[in-house]
Formats: sequence, C-alpha cells, structure tokens
Amino acid sequence: MSFQIRLAQMEDIAGVVALQQKAFPPPFDPELHWDPEHIEAHIRVFPLGQWVAVSHDGTVIGSCSNTLISEERWNLHAPWYRTVGGPSLEGIELNGNTLYGLDISVDPDFRRQGVGRSFYEARFEYVRTHQLTRYGTACRIPGFVESGETSAENYVQNVVTAEMTDRTLTPLLRYGLTCLGVIENYMPDPESLNHAALLEWKP
Ligand SMILES: CC(C)(COP(=O)(O)OP(=O)(O)OC[C@H]1O[C@@H](n2cnc3c(N)ncnc32)[C@H](O)[C@@H]1OP(=O)(O)O)[C@@H](O)C(=O)NCCC(=O)NCCS
Repeated sequence: MSFQIRLAQMEDIAGVVALQQKAFPPPFDPELHWDPEHIEAHIRVFPLGQWVAVSHDGTVIGSCSNTLISEERWNLHAPWYRTVGGPSLEGIELNGNTLYGLDISVDPDFRRQGVGRSFYEARFEYVRTHQLTRYGTACRIPGFVESGETSAENYVQNVVTAEMTDRTLTPLLRYGLTCLGVIENYMPDPESLNHAALLEWKP
C-alpha cells in the first residue's frame, strides 16, 4: 500500500473530519470528534505541526494533530483539556520545548501498514529539527475494561512488559515511546475508564 505523509492543508479538512467517525467509533463520544473549525484552527495556529496521510488517489487515510507546550505545562501531567487549552489549540505555547500530540487516527482499512509509524517519524523529526526537549502525549487504553484488570496501573504495566496487548498503547510503545505512568480523568473515554498512559520520547 502506498501512502504519503504531508502537512495538512485546508482542503483536507473534510477528509480529516470524516476519518474521526471511522477511527473513534462508539462507545467513544462523537461530541469529542474534531469539527471542521477545530482542524481549520490547528492549521492556522500551528501549520507545521499538523499532518495527514493520503493514499495514491489523494484520500485522507490518517491524520495527527499536535501543539506546543512549555516544560511547566508538561510537568503538570494534567488532563487533555487543561494541557492543550481546548480543541482549537487555545493553550499553545509557541516557545514551548515539548511537541504534544493531541491525536492520531488511521483509517481502519489501512491499519498495520506503517501509517502510524510514519506519523511518529514526522513527530520525532520535528522535535529533532526544532531542538525541542521531547515529544509527549497521553494515550487511550481501550483494552483496559475488557482486560478484567482492576487497576489501570497494572494494566498499563502488563502492556509495557508485553504480557498484554492494547490496540492503541501497544503500537505507540513500538514506536519507542517510554511510559511514565497513568493519568486519571484524562478525557471521557468509556473503554479506558477515562484513564490514559503518559508517554514521552526524547531525542
Ligand atoms: C493506534 C493507531 C494510530 C496505529 O496505527 P497503525 O498505522 O495501524 O500502526 P502501525 O502500522 O504503524 O503499527 C505499528 C506497530 O504496532 C503494531 N500494532 C498495530 N496495531 C496493533 C494492534 N491492534 N495490536 C497489536 N499490535 C499492533 C504493529 O504490528 C506494528 O508493529 P511493528 O512495527 O513492530 O511491526 C491506529 O490503530 C488508530 O488509528 N487507532 C484508533 C485511533 C486511536 O485510538 N488513536 C490514538 C489516540 S491516543
């Protein structure tokens, strides 16, 4: 499968929004999907930090949004909204030393073919090129509830040691991110019981 990773353009907005519905199906709350004005704001506010993956015919098959935050903000390890300031990058800190990943989505029909890895290579390259301290994010753990584990910390530890597989956290660990812990009440997410794994990559 051939695909290209490139910076998002205004004409990609409809494709990115349509992809959200495929990539985050129920029980994920559709109210949390990007609206067109959110993507428009991402491209306007931080154009060098928004990427899409397009197939050979130009269809958007993946997207990832990013912002910049300071060391102080990063160290709070706060929930999504407080960290990024809102869905239109309201809290961006343009001189921040941390590239922070808001989301990554790959079309289910194009998964496990390296699209997610390519987005991460673009993120890491941005960190290197701009001499930032790190890439950071917090990752859903959608296999938590169905795993039967009673504690999110134990579940995440089992995924880190590869005793368990999580369809979202496992790929991100394969990209070389280090797990620093678990954030409670990160965002409404029934499958993760609102938990997220805090992840970091340093060049
Ligand atoms: C997570 C996601 C971005 C991964 O994208 P992808 O393009 O399918 O991943 P890749 O092809 O780059 O796979 C990377 C590695 O993870 C592994 N992997 C991917 N999906 C996996 C799964 N469901 N279970 C176990 N391993 C998996 C691959 O085998 C690959 O390993 P390798 O490099 O050692 O061969 C994609 O599944 C997705 O969009 N999920 C839904 C949206 C979402 O939850 N986003 C995260 C928000 S925090």
